[in-house]
Amino acid sequence: MHVHVVTIFPEFFASPLGVGIVKRARDGGLLRVSLVDLREYTSDRHRSTDDYPYGGGCGMVMKPEPIVTALDAIAAGAPRARRILLSPRGAVLDHALVEALAREEDLVMVCGRYEGIDERVRSFVDDEISIGDYVLSGGEIAAMALIDAVTRLIPGALGNVASALSESFASGTLEYPQYTRPAMFRGLAVPSVLLSGDHAAIGRWREREAQRITQRVRPDLLKKPAERTPGAPAESPSGLGGRRDTTVEPPPAGSH
Ligand code: ADE
Repeated sequence: MHVHVVTIFPEFFASPLGVGIVKRARDGGLLRVSLVDLREYTSDRHRSTDDYPYGGGCGMVMKPEPIVTALDAIAAGAPRARRILLSPRGAVLDHALVEALAREEDLVMVCGRYEGIDERVRSFVDDEISIGDYVLSGGEIAAMALIDAVTRLIPGALGNVASALSESFASGTLEYPQYTRPAMFRGLAVPSVLLSGDHAAIGRWREREAQRITQRVRPDLLKKPAERTPGAPAESPSGLGGRRDTTVEPPPAGSH
């Protein structure tokens, strides 16, 4: 998997890409991350990536040219890459979408910043993805969350234990409770079944607990996917039709 991240803050990624499972996947050649500095694709003296909004209003808007020029440059080497815009306006990321993205060979992640991004950029991406219903200062944290989640699903990136944990979430419930030594901690005992050595009983207990916890904190996960988001388009998880289906209007006469 090769991830190309388009950002004005490439330095942001140094630390999270350099630790844990993501580092191991990169070292092992399972994951390659190219940090694409958006300023390299600006054409003015000040290397500006944003400008004032048409129609007035406060804040700045990210210019379309540097982003689309960067996307063109990436496409020259990875023409089939799936292009993702990280934004609070996107489809909310879930396990099914992470699974779909993990099957791609090349992903491009465009990190928005400032108050917004020129609307026309959306004509040049396949998906728009949000990591939750709140606003971050930019797409970098969201892109890193996505890289981490996708990396965990690349075959060979995880050891067996972690792999089993991921599958358990994929099965639709949250994880069962885990304990380690000591057997008694500040008056709180480890459930006796876990000390029993009866593996069949332990398995049943874990299954029951996973169901109980999921029912209590995330009952929506126990519903069938179709019941979860009524009206959501089944084939376009991002909610964005996708770049290849998007009609791009010709520029008005006199524009350049
Ligand atoms: N950029 C700002 N907020 C975001 C969010 N919630 N998800 C993805 N990208 C974002």
